[in-house]
Amino acid sequence: MKLVACEAVAQRLEGGRMSTLQAVKGMNDILPSEIAKWQRFETTFRDIAARYAFSEIRTPIVEPTELFARSIGQGTDIVQKEMYTFVDKGEKSLTLRPEGTASTARAFMQHRLGAQSPVNKLFYLGPMYRRERPAKGRYRQFFQAGAEWIGDDSAYADAETVAFAHSLLDALGIKEHRILINSIGSNETRANYRKALYDFLEPKTAQLSVDSQRRLELNPLRILDSKDPKDKALIGDAPSILDFLGADDREHFQQVQEALTQLGIAFEIETRLVRGLDYYNRSLFEIHATAADLGSQSAVLGGGRYDGLLETLGGKAAPATGFATGIERMLLAMPNAETAPQIDVAVLVAEASLRGDALLLTERLRRAGMRVDADWRGLSLKSQLRRSDKLGAPFAVILGQREKENGVVQLKSLKKHEQKDVGIEGLIPYLQSELESL
Ligand code: HAM
Repeated sequence: MKLVACEAVAQRLEGGRMSTLQAVKGMNDILPSEIAKWQRFETTFRDIAARYAFSEIRTPIVEPTELFARSIGQGTDIVQKEMYTFVDKGEKSLTLRPEGTASTARAFMQHRLGAQSPVNKLFYLGPMYRRERPAKGRYRQFFQAGAEWIGDDSAYADAETVAFAHSLLDALGIKEHRILINSIGSNETRANYRKALYDFLEPKTAQLSVDSQRRLELNPLRILDSKDPKDKALIGDAPSILDFLGADDREHFQQVQEALTQLGIAFEIETRLVRGLDYYNRSLFEIHATAADLGSQSAVLGGGRYDGLLETLGGKAAPATGFATGIERMLLAMPNAETAPQIDVAVLVAEASLRGDALLLTERLRRAGMRVDADWRGLSLKSQLRRSDKLGAPFAVILGQREKENGVVQLKSLKKHEQKDVGIEGLIPYLQSELESL
């Protein structure tokens, strides 16, 4: 059966024009023109992660389906509707990871990282997959940068996690944002609150959106982050989860707030913040970028404490807290910076007979550490210069018959529009000092 299906696809591809082949809906190519911003994000994230003493972990993109069902939760939108799940040839149900916390927890347990060190601070970067309705800032393949702090139950760990996220936004130049925090307490708090919320909303079922009517029975907490104006109006008067916290959780949340205040980090308490994954307890937070044109995708970062997750997955209990940020959303919120030129020098050759000399010169410059482009299509000097300009080369080195005979090259500054002869022997140190002084 499977083979027949493959053949049908192959025939359709052969029959159709190749130009109709497109990336999967909601999954984007990241083109060279966009890459500088991605790299700026990644370098900044790694730098800030190192300052907070987090180490990198890389886990597979594919995991057993059960991992996500048991951690994120059976009743969540992610597990119910959004996972890319398939049965592999070994008849095992596998899923493309929709997030990184569950995989990190699985790897932590599998490799007994807790036995090596009581506290593990781990970060990751990579693609995640959720079959959501694509929109600006919401994709089916998207990238997350995340941090997980396993082994510390202190409110200071929560506050430092928020501080890490805050420093990241600061370093990226995302000035206009709101930090929302809340606490959802213990399992008992949530069970009591769920019941209170149900009792509050049930008599108003008919006024709820169709989606929320379904959520009411399954998971009424999800109604709190509904974007539907009808739901929002009703939720305004709903009970607050903070009134259901036990004494310990209340104190923990108080300490998180005090630590953030001490750190000078502005935050708002948002009692409707519950987040869409089941593993959370105690403090939660989200950061919304307010200036960027992100519409309902303004949540650029989210996280919280998940003290029960490792035990739920069959491991030894360990407290944990963390966050993840959607890189595409961060890039939309980041200001555009001037992009650095791709190359340092372009080698231009005036005559075909000198191509061998130019080839050797190009390689010598690269060995000296410079980023060098050369074009071997036999174009005119003018066309070669146009390409150098397009690549943003600050310098072009021109080799012609006259130059060769005199043991020099013509060095052209494309920024200052000046040119002069430089002896071939002294060219490398001369270029290096010119590039340094740019
Ligand atoms: P999350 O809120 O589901 O949390 O996702 C974190 C961030 O990923 C969101 O704030 C958003 O920026 C981005 N994101 C989510 N879905 C999409 C999408 N379809 N397209 C683009 N960006 C998206 C988690 O994933 C938790 N694992 C966070 C965490 C880590 N909690 C504790 N540790």
